[in-house]
Amino acid sequence: MHSNGRRKKRISVLAGSSVGLFLMFLIMAMQGHGQTLAGRWAANGRALDNGEQEKYLLELKQDGNQLTGTVTTLGFSAAVTGTATGTHFELFGEWSPKRPFLVGDLVNGQLVANQGRRHLVANPATAADELPKVPFIDPPALHPVNGNGLAKTPPMGWNSWNLFAGKIDDATVRTMADAMVSSGMRDAGYVYVNIDDTWEGVRDASGNLQSNHKFPDMKALADYVHSKGLKLGIYSSPGPRTCAGYPGSYGHEAQDAKTFAAWGIDYLKYDWCSARMIYKDSDLQPVYQKMGEALVSTGRPMIFSLCEYGLGSVEKWGPDVAGNLWRTTGDIRDEWSSMIDNIELQAHTAPYAGPGHWNDPDMLEIGNGHMSDDEYRTHMSLWALTAAPLLAGNDVRSMTDATKSILMNKEVIAIDQDPLGKQASPVKKGELETWVKPLADGSVAVGVVNMGASAEQASIQLSDLNLTGTVKGARDLWAHTDVKFAVGGYSTSVPSHGVVLLRVTSN
Ligand code: GLA
Repeated sequence: MHSNGRRKKRISVLAGSSVGLFLMFLIMAMQGHGQTLAGRWAANGRALDNGEQEKYLLELKQDGNQLTGTVTTLGFSAAVTGTATGTHFELFGEWSPKRPFLVGDLVNGQLVANQGRRHLVANPATAADELPKVPFIDPPALHPVNGNGLAKTPPMGWNSWNLFAGKIDDATVRTMADAMVSSGMRDAGYVYVNIDDTWEGVRDASGNLQSNHKFPDMKALADYVHSKGLKLGIYSSPGPRTCAGYPGSYGHEAQDAKTFAAWGIDYLKYDWCSARMIYKDSDLQPVYQKMGEALVSTGRPMIFSLCEYGLGSVEKWGPDVAGNLWRTTGDIRDEWSSMIDNIELQAHTAPYAGPGHWNDPDMLEIGNGHMSDDEYRTHMSLWALTAAPLLAGNDVRSMTDATKSILMNKEVIAIDQDPLGKQASPVKKGELETWVKPLADGSVAVGVVNMGASAEQASIQLSDLNLTGTVKGARDLWAHTDVKFAVGGYSTSVPSHGVVLLRVTSN
């Protein structure tokens, strides 16, 4: 140990000196000489919970220190870009342009890398590494599909993905269902408990999709969730594989819809994922129609949630495939810029929201710890103003008082759940952004968000509100107090990234 310590010290002294630095660069340059990152690389990903093996195929081109290419897994294929510095590389996915998803080095003809905390070694791909080919199934012809009559107001509940990703199981769902009741979430309106990706097992000899060992008895779980006065949601893909690599419903749509109905499922999130490797964006509508119709045909009321990241102008045809909500954006992350990007991205979809069919800027991150309470209040306010589905994504078993007061603010929830079902649009942009939502009783909800880095004086003008009649009263929905809305409007200080949210009624 002693001599080892001394050797380490010598190396760090050497690295600290300019001669040492020069030698290190020389060694790195020699290692990199003649080697290129370009090529087709294959690696094993995680072992899936159904006994199968996730795979990565990385197709890279190198031009100087610029890398471009694609990454393909069982569940999706996406463009990547990146940089190479000698033998070191960083790759960014199209889904996360600001943060590298793979960082590593070329070492003795292998890519030795880290994907987050996971270690990965990629070798030059051989024919044996190619992903299995699936037969192409023609999308059906478009035809009218009966709606399911559900989701007259935006769906509310909880979903496992934002917090647990692949680490979700039966026991966790049960404790979460318990906590939905004991915390008051259920009574505040959050009734769906939704299992996202990674519950899937393999198909049996008759093609019936089974759950994996983490969910030993889905029917019993549904019974448990129902006994709590809650509803159970599940997840699948129109492709052969889900985004996490598990079996999807491709070619088994009607069969899976029947399985879900038999288990007692109340909600399906249907995620495009590997369907993107088979179909074009113009096939989205008929492919989603297939499952929309299959769900309605079971006779069991099941919410149909389309997850296709806003592709193919989904807001224009979502209701025609019996869709109740559809994603308008890529995946949310628990950070201010991601949350704001998502809400801004769906602003143009406002005319298409209404009872039964909603634009979905993705699930809530409130309480997951990487935004301030002011930012989470803004998150909740913007989701409510835009009549977005409210699917909590945090640990409802251990919420702080602040998180509870944000998620269960009844006055804000009432804005989201207003029966008129209008989606707010931003009427003023800039450092202070004003969103206005007309409500069923003739009043309006108005929110002003401070996008800036310091507190600002926000003023709401009567002319912003498009009210008929004169102002009768105004209420601050976060302070829970009535406020005076003078002739000239209302003005108050809003903290950085905070919000003022009022409900203004008129005579
Ligand atoms: C996609 C979806 C996410 C989540 C994951 C699961 O990324 O957009 O919401 O469902 O797949 O793999």
